[in-house]
Amino acid sequence: MRIASTSTLIITACAVAAACRGTLATHPSAPRPVAEGLAPTPPMGWNSWNKFGCRIDEALIRETADAIVSSGMKDAGYQYVNIDDCWEAPARDANGNLAADPQRFPSGIKALADYVHSKGLKIGIYSSAGTGTCQRRPASLDHEVADARTFASWGIDYLKYDNCNNEHRPAFERYRAMGNALKATGRPIVFSLCEWGQNKPWEWGRTVGGNLWRTTGDIRDRWTSMLAILDKQVGLEKYSGPNGWNDPDMLEVGNGHMTNGEYVAHFSLWSLLNAPLIAGNDIRSMGDSTRAILTNRDVIAVDQDWGGEQGHKVRDDGEQEVWMKPMSTGDRAVILLNRDSTTATVRATMQEIGLPAGTHTARNLWTHADTSFGGEITAELPGHSVAMYLVHH
Ligand code: GLA
Repeated sequence: MRIASTSTLIITACAVAAACRGTLATHPSAPRPVAEGLAPTPPMGWNSWNKFGCRIDEALIRETADAIVSSGMKDAGYQYVNIDDCWEAPARDANGNLAADPQRFPSGIKALADYVHSKGLKIGIYSSAGTGTCQRRPASLDHEVADARTFASWGIDYLKYDNCNNEHRPAFERYRAMGNALKATGRPIVFSLCEWGQNKPWEWGRTVGGNLWRTTGDIRDRWTSMLAILDKQVGLEKYSGPNGWNDPDMLEVGNGHMTNGEYVAHFSLWSLLNAPLIAGNDIRSMGDSTRAILTNRDVIAVDQDWGGEQGHKVRDDGEQEVWMKPMSTGDRAVILLNRDSTTATVRATMQEIGLPAGTHTARNLWTHADTSFGGEITAELPGHSVAMYLVHH
């Protein structure tokens, strides 16, 4: 059952209580929905980790925000500029609060947040539900309330909350503590659970205020890694939906160790899964082919559409697979995937993609050409590639 939003609950309660009349939404101190409603579609943005690891500083974050605007990514829907691990000073400050690394972020996170906001973007930060981050910087276990307040005071819009150094304490409790602390700040902060899928966060992520939850360990910029993560998404489709998304990890598009066709496959598949689209490359220097992938609006539109079900595998012939996502229009987004290294024909019947038999028109979401399929949808695909279609109902 989907949890009703805070405002829905208030409306329901007020409908039977005459005393409530007139207070809803007009009262300046009326509670705002915080966790609910923050990610009605899968979040889109950028994160520093996949490309830069610990080699980050405030200039990189500012330049990336600039490049998200100038490259057209902002117009295509990318919104969050997320700082990952290694932003923290080696120790908490004299008051016990988290502080930014004074060498790498001398102006402080508040100034950086103001800059990112001035570009019409939002800013995200990182901590761990442990005694230290994965790179052994101070983290938030047992400091949740203070750290959430610090993030809110800086103007943070998104928190990625990792799982390192967790002292083997129960995940649910560790993540709930931060979810409650974020909610208590009153600032809308998207809560991204980076629990690596170890304790089935898809079953409880929503109840701790999570808006997305990692389903696996870390992605690497390799075709085999991307496919291994894809395989682990099978069966999780029923847990994803507005404000609570399965997160198969951030994008590697443009990082250099996959071919263009492999990156097209990665981006297509992540979009079909309604995955958060968090770019992980150097936006400042990306080439045209990378930009063309990341800003393909036809494919992004599939990611951002909610037709009641995350995309899932509908046919498996071993090295060839077919994945389908119902769109809110009744159309079907379909990916034909050739995992093999040699050319192969991939096919599915109309019935397998949930459409009546017969001829259907379709749009190829990478060539943007219209085509039609009679009876079955099929394509001959080079090794390590996909074709992606919007098949009309
Ligand atoms: C973990 C996370 C990664 C990244 C690193 C940072 O491995 O899963 O996404 O945040 O920590 O140290």
